[in-house]
Order: sequence, then structure tokens, then C-alpha cells
Amino acid sequence: MSEELELDVGRVAAGGACVARAPDGRVVFVRHAIPGERVRAVITDTTTSYHRADAVEVITASPDRVAPPCPYARPGGCGGCDWQHVALSRQRALKAELVAEQLQRLAGISRDVVVEPVPGDVEGLRWRTRVQFAVDRAGRAGLHRHRSHDLEPVDACLIATDDVEAVGAERLPWPGATGVEVTAAGSQRVVHVSGRIADLPDVDAGLVVNDRPRRVPHGVRHEVLGRSFDVAAGGFWQVHPGAAAVLAHAVLDGLDPQPGDRVVDLYAGVGLFASLLGERVGPTGSVLALEGDARAGADAARNTSDQPHVKVRTGTVDAATVASRVGRPALVVLDPPRAGAGVQVAKAIIGLAPRRVAYVACDPATFARDLKAFLDAGWELPSLRAFDLFPMTEHVELVAILTPPA
Ligand SMILES: C[S@@+](CC[C@H](N)C(=O)[O-])C[C@H]1O[C@@H](n2cnc3c(N)ncnc32)[C@H](O)[C@@H]1O
Repeated sequence: MSEELELDVGRVAAGGACVARAPDGRVVFVRHAIPGERVRAVITDTTTSYHRADAVEVITASPDRVAPPCPYARPGGCGGCDWQHVALSRQRALKAELVAEQLQRLAGISRDVVVEPVPGDVEGLRWRTRVQFAVDRAGRAGLHRHRSHDLEPVDACLIATDDVEAVGAERLPWPGATGVEVTAAGSQRVVHVSGRIADLPDVDAGLVVNDRPRRVPHGVRHEVLGRSFDVAAGGFWQVHPGAAAVLAHAVLDGLDPQPGDRVVDLYAGVGLFASLLGERVGPTGSVLALEGDARAGADAARNTSDQPHVKVRTGTVDAATVASRVGRPALVVLDPPRAGAGVQVAKAIIGLAPRRVAYVACDPATFARDLKAFLDAGWELPSLRAFDLFPMTEHVELVAILTPPA
């Protein structure tokens, strides 16, 4: 039988669990709890230095506790959401605490953080425009349990958009498949299947099987601030329908690009920022977009094909490339994956001496590490905005504006 403990639950930790102390002195990371609660918890995993546990009974409830809208968001259930049991306002406060703590610990600065909701958000539900389902041996699509390869079969996902749910991937048979990704932008839908599947179910969507296009559409088109962006199936695009516009506004407002400016967009994806910055700097300016994924780079080139002053290059962003192959930009945007850009890339950007840098970050810890390189070089952080692009989860997106020493 699993060990049970009564615990007083403390602060939230990176990863979304809350920190408590076990009678043996070890730290316990407790899921399904809220800071300030007393809970009965079942240990789910133990290492030499800490336990993981699930709160299975709430003895003293937080005033911010709500009934999870999703029936699969429970101990042992779907691992996709961390905080369905937490009121949205408190979710945002918890994210703000997490960001502030990483800034303090890794960048050495005290900063009050406010996490802003995304315009159009409806109670934190029905926002995922892309959902990756795993498929079990029986051909059933489901979602992974927390820290597990096991599947939780689900009938529906409450954070997926209605357009994703209209495909009904969770209720169809996928014998032989290992994964099914559903992407929807309005009524355009694409299903991207991987594995050795012989009989595909009939879906009302475009189809890509093992990266081979089978039925149009093979990607979706998004409209942001008056421009169109084609994204091939499997390509990167923010999943919240309001995300691209909110991030683009934050980057444009923060950088304040002027006609004639030279701009570098690092980790450019399908060209969201490159294209919008291209409009602002106009034909007397220039934008160089650098993206590592060939397919995304091809989309970026197509999405900016009407802007001859925007150049897209496919290649790895690293310190050597930034130091020697991107010229002398006035403005730099960087939007790296969760690993962050890294201190060497940050130092290379500092070496370019741009007027401003916009750092878009999905991981507060790697962002704080890279921020320290800027602060150590005398740079300032005049603006740091945080957005709730991933309600019900512990994830948060940051847009930092950095300026060099005067
Ligand atoms: C968070 S996405 C940002 C995309 C884009 N800025 C947007 O908002 O849609 C990060 C992008 O960086 C690319 N990438 C990851 N590591 C890279 C590297 N070392 N060099 C170049 N691109 C990389 C990924 O392919 C992905 O398109």
C-alpha cells in the first residue's frame, strides 16, 4: 500500500507542485494542492532527497480551491493540466510568484510580476489549438499521466478548442499509430499521424501521415495584425488563439521599431515577429530572421515573400553565428525554446550593442539565467510582461525588454 501523510502545504515550486515537509525531514512536492492547505497525500515517488505526492483529501481547503472542470484532472489521471483545482486569479498569482522567485534566485533581482490574461480567454478553457495525443497498443488515443508513459484515455479535452474537439480524435480508433496531433485554426483542421497505421479513421480534416501529406490542408493559416501566416503541420505556432497577437503587440510596443531600423529575429519560427517588424521598419530598413527548422524556415520565407527587405536564413542560432553573421542590428528579438538562448548567445547579442532587445521566454528559469548575463554587463530591464498563455497549467510566457547601459 502507498504511504500516506498529512501535510501542511507551502509555496508553489517550478513544475506546479507545492512544497511540504515530510516527518522524515524530506521535501515533498505535492500535486493537486494549493499553498496554505492541509491535505492527506499519497507518496507517488521517492528519491534520496525528496518525495513526490498527490493530495487525495483536503483537510483544510484554500479559499481559492474550485472543483476541477475536467473529470480527468485528478490524482493518477491526466497529467496535462496542473491547476484545474485552482481559481484562475490564483493560478496567475502562483505563476507570478514562480517568475519572481526565479528572477531572485537566478538573476539576483527583486521584481513584482503581474501575469496578464490573454484577451479572449474564457475561464481558461477551450484554448489549445493543437493537441498531441498518444496512442496505446489498442489504438486508443489519450493523454499521458503525470511523469508517465501510461495513457489516460479521454473522451474530450476541456482545454482544447471546439475546432480541435470537432475532429473527435479521442473517440476514433488509431490501430498501429503511436501519436496523433490535431491542429485547428477556425474551420481549417489538420491531423498529423505517426506510426505504422494501416486503416485510418475517416476524419473531417487535412491529413499528414509520418510527415507525408495525404489530404489538404497540410497546414493551417493564421491571421495576426493584418498579416497571414502559413504553418505546416507539426510546425511551431503558439497554441493559444490570442497568443500570437498579444506577444506581437508586446514585442512591437517594447522595441518601438522605426523606419530604416535593422532588425535581427532569432529563433524566428514561421516569421511572426520578422514579418510584423518588417512592416514597421519598411523597405529602408531590414530584418534578418534566423530559424533552425528547415520546414519552419520555408514557411517563414513564404510568409514574408512580399517583403524583399526581410531575409530568412535557416541555421542554428549560436554564439559564433550571432557574433559574426548577423551584422550590426539596432533591434534584436529572441524567442528561444525552453532551454533558453544560453549565456554565450546572450553575450554575443550584448557584443552587437543593439538599441533594444526583446527576449520572449517560455521558461522563467532559463530566461533568468540568460538575463543575468545582460544585467552583469550593465544592461537594464525596463519592462517585463508575463502572459497567461497556458491556463490550467503552471506555464507562463514572458516578454522582456532589455536596454544597454546609457
Ligand atoms: C518558441 S519558438 C518561436 C517561434 C517564433 N518566434 C514564433 O513566435 O512563432 C522557437 C523556435 O526556435 C527554433 N529553434 C530551436 N532551437 C534553435 C536553434 N538552436 N537555432 C535556431 N532555431 C532554433 C524552433 O524550431 C522554433 O521554431
